[in-house]
Amino acid sequence: RIAYVNGQYLPHRDASVHIEDRGYQFADGVYEVVTIVGSRMIDEEGHLDRLWRSLGELRIDAPMKREPLKMVMREVIRQNGIRDGIIYLQVTRGVAPRDHPFPDDIPTSLVMTAKRLSMEKAAKKAQEGVSVITVPDIRWTRRDIKSVSLLPNVLAKQEAKENGAYEAFQVDEDGMVTEGSSTNAWIVSKEGKIVTRPTSNSILAGITRASLIRELEKNGIELELRSFSVEELLSAREVFITSSTSYVLPVVKVDDQVIGNGHPGLISLKLRKIYEKFMS
Ligand code: PDD
Repeated sequence: RIAYVNGQYLPHRDASVHIEDRGYQFADGVYEVVTIVGSRMIDEEGHLDRLWRSLGELRIDAPMKREPLKMVMREVIRQNGIRDGIIYLQVTRGVAPRDHPFPDDIPTSLVMTAKRLSMEKAAKKAQEGVSVITVPDIRWTRRDIKSVSLLPNVLAKQEAKENGAYEAFQVDEDGMVTEGSSTNAWIVSKEGKIVTRPTSNSILAGITRASLIRELEKNGIELELRSFSVEELLSAREVFITSSTSYVLPVVKVDDQVIGNGHPGLISLKLRKIYEKFMS
């Protein structure tokens, strides 16, 4: 495997950044995960728009212009021979002796890795459905920034894992679901409406979420953009999640509550099909 580190393509095992990188010391950086299908990036422009927005919100300089960055991403995919998988891209404020305020005039750090993902395994998981748990959302109030500061997300996902679940839905102080630890949360309500939370500082504006919404509109499928409570989640007809690594993934159990008949819902599976078609 090959990694890209600040201008160099290196063997993955030798790729490293300095111990005083602010990403390491302060989680002072942002990232993106882009799906690769058939050696092509899905929603490349959407991910780059969001990257630039995250950088802007944190006043981190872009490591390079957009076109050269795209070329490096393509080169990382090519050098790793990825057909189906993901590319991970991280930008931090750079390397400087540890001190909280922004350092003056240092170059930002840019690293990229790529890995294969099995489409067969993903398809099997979607046919079976996954389970989720609910946990309190203990994150900061700028969840719209795709920051590498992921400790609450790590704790939530670990709790899911320890409970035999695939994902943890985080719940705000009003008892409303924000999103998964690395996914956006959706339900099909008792009334049969597809529901997901509107974008705000409370959730990450998922690129998969945005593309699915566009596909819904194209197909004339109705959508309710609103928050939903844990109570509504537990009594929903269907539940599913979206992300660059899960696409559209049906949920069949929440905490100890079976959703529907315990099998992926028909609408969830239909939306996965629509999304797969969009990616192909
Ligand atoms: N996570 N919400 C959170 C908190 C996320 O971290 C992610 C993505 C999403 C879905 O966004 P998108 O559809 O753009 O992937 C929602 C990535 C995949 C990760 O951390 O690995």
